[in-house]
Amino acid sequence: MSIVKINVLTVPAEQRETLEKRFASRAGLVESADGFEWFELLRPVDGTDNYLVYTRWRDEESFQAWMEGSMKEAHQGGSDRPKPAASGSTVWTMEVLQQAEPKSD
Ligand code: HEM
Repeated sequence: MSIVKINVLTVPAEQRETLEKRFASRAGLVESADGFEWFELLRPVDGTDNYLVYTRWRDEESFQAWMEGSMKEAHQGGSDRPKPAASGSTVWTMEVLQQAEPKSD
């Protein structure tokens, strides 16, 4: 089964707009990475300051290859980015043990 890598970003209130704008103009390279399966940017609505960058991959090797390759390009940003919008980040690694989708009837 697939593996999930979640980058947990700590984003101060005054940086939320900046972060969301950066993702709105993200490179869009991850979609072409071998073994890439899913991406979601999750915004907190319960008062915390943690955005989650959810990614799902065929296996750990696929994720590592992306980290060594186009991930770097996708994180370079532009010249108008003096500092990161997030004040911290932690990566969670999980494996998918079960999954389900609605019945189609
Ligand atoms: C130092 C830690 C990190 C920070 C602060 C960070 C923040 C960001 C930001 C602001 C963007 C939007 C593009 C940009 O402004 O460059 C982005 C893109 C992205 N980040 Fe991160 N990131 C970090 C590491 C990671 C890691 C370890 C993962 C793996 C789960 C990840 C997954 C992604 C993905 C999938 C995109 C979209 C890239 C694309 O569209 O090709 N990030 N990240």
